[in-house]
Amino acid sequence: MNYTPNPSRYEKMSYRRCGKSGIRLPEISLGLWHNFGGVDTFENYRAILRAAFDVGITHFDLANNYGPPPGSAEENFGIILKKDLLPYRDELIISSKAGYLMWSGPYGEWGSRKYLIASCEQSLKRTGLDYFDIFYSHRPDPETPLEETMGALDYLVRSGKALYAGLSNYNAEQTARALIILKDLGTPCLIHQPKYSMFVRDSENGLLDVLGKNGVGCIPFSPLAQGLLTDKYLHGIPEGSRAALEHGYLKKEEVSEAVVNKIKQLNELAQKRGQSLAQMALAWLLKDERVTTVLIGASKVSQLHDSRGALENKHFSSDELSQIESILK
Ligand SMILES: NC(=O)c1ccc[n+]([C@@H]2O[C@H](COP(=O)([O-])OP(=O)(O)OC[C@H]3O[C@@H](n4cnc5c(N)ncnc54)[C@H](OP(=O)(O)O)[C@@H]3O)[C@@H](O)[C@H]2O)c1
Repeated sequence: MNYTPNPSRYEKMSYRRCGKSGIRLPEISLGLWHNFGGVDTFENYRAILRAAFDVGITHFDLANNYGPPPGSAEENFGIILKKDLLPYRDELIISSKAGYLMWSGPYGEWGSRKYLIASCEQSLKRTGLDYFDIFYSHRPDPETPLEETMGALDYLVRSGKALYAGLSNYNAEQTARALIILKDLGTPCLIHQPKYSMFVRDSENGLLDVLGKNGVGCIPFSPLAQGLLTDKYLHGIPEGSRAALEHGYLKKEEVSEAVVNKIKQLNELAQKRGQSLAQMALAWLLKDERVTTVLIGASKVSQLHDSRGALENKHFSSDELSQIESILK
């Protein structure tokens, strides 16, 4: 069936400026790490992508290795782009990354110029895109000079293969050094993608300060801690959930009694606020103005709609914030 996007999509979403750049991103972005691979169902992920664009989600996040198998999420996104979204290319921000293992031999991972540029070319071919809006170094490489990795990002932008450069999984100190190099090269970093949620708060120890001070945006990934910060694991591990899947990155052991105890208390507080736990967890991240957008995943259209509902109530009283702190302790 032909796809016509919802004409009122832009009324359903708020957009935040990404650091001090010219770009505004939707407060909710969609990632294709899980649920869009060769093992997943075409009609389901096509419906999720359509539903996302219909509520004003303009930012879709990929990486070379998303699948499984690695590369298949980019291929599948490319198919849907061609079928449904290509007329709207200029309304979209599409990102990809290189850093994790993609091919055998010494040039198939980490941060060399050789790997980053070859991988970006491969990702462009898989998606059928002419350029990515954002291209990231997916992780810092302890053995490659930072100048080389940043130089590769600068080259990708200058050659038109990407419009902006991003960093992911770099700590505060690595980020501060990388930002200086990129600025000197004339390709300022647009955005940083750290793992950040109520359950994973390393970003609060310096990284957010570095980003705020330098006018760089922040897009927390796994903001729902891969689904832990929802009501799905309150009564065990449901069939088909990420923790139940063999290829899922959430391990059964992570759904521990101590974690479920916290989830229960957080869920009660969310209910008092008239929100689902997923909505409260996303709103909690968005209360920090340095956070540009939260990068969610979804295995169903209904989850995407639930998560978008976070935007209906982003206000927290100081009492609610301290209750959350004491539950998370
Ligand atoms: N830069 C990096 O190194 C890096 C690493 C990881 C991820 N990422 C990016 O971040 C994106 C999001 O990561 P993530 O998928 O882990 O994010 P997440 O939003 O923390 O988890 C998504 C999962 O939570 C469950 N879920 C989502 N919304 C729900 C709702 N409203 N109610 C109940 N359950 C809900 C679903 O799990 P079920 O499948 O169980 O239904 C869904 O697949 C990725 O796609 C990727 O783009 C980047």
